[in-house]
Amino acid sequence: MTGLSKEILIPQPEISRRVQELADQISRDCAGEEILAIGVLKGAFVFMSDLVRAMAVPCQTDFIRAVSYGAGSESSGNVVITKDVELPVEGRNILIVEDIVDTGLTLQSIVDHIKRRNPKSIRVCAFLDKRKRRKVPFEADYVGFSMDDGFVVGYGLDFNEQYRFLPDVYVIRTDVD
Ligand code: IMP
Repeated sequence: MTGLSKEILIPQPEISRRVQELADQISRDCAGEEILAIGVLKGAFVFMSDLVRAMAVPCQTDFIRAVSYGAGSESSGNVVITKDVELPVEGRNILIVEDIVDTGLTLQSIVDHIKRRNPKSIRVCAFLDKRKRRKVPFEADYVGFSMDDGFVVGYGLDFNEQYRFLPDVYVIRTDVD
């Protein structure tokens, strides 16, 4: 028999502390600027809402959604924008907020997509970073936590649309009896 179990990886108080640190760093770097924060749906919705409320600089918010078609859970590089940003991007300071950078293919496509609209600046903030799994050399400007391999859920992240609501981050394990 094969089943799934989950084990806590990052408890909620640690998440809150780190989100506040990221928000402070962004607020310092962006002092005097007005920001358009663009959350990447669906996974970033929880992180985005905590981050913008912890920031001390004015920001507007919008969302984008990208789907990566490919086999299994691995990103294929064939990234399609299925919901675009609705607010104007040209000449603005953009903060892209993402749940996790894995191969880097999704964020690379989103950044290229936003760049074509001539923003004044683009910064990327990712809650989690699986640096060792990159297929393209993508670096986020701000990273909450770095992790090695493993599949995580909670705090907006899902496995087959489950577990997004959990306040902590868990790593999922496949148990074989
Ligand atoms: P990338 O294009 O490979 O960087 O994929 C990034 C996307 O894959 C993220 O926005 C997530 O939606 C998804 N993803 C990658 N790793 C995980 C994980 O461990 N848990 C949940 N979603 C993940």
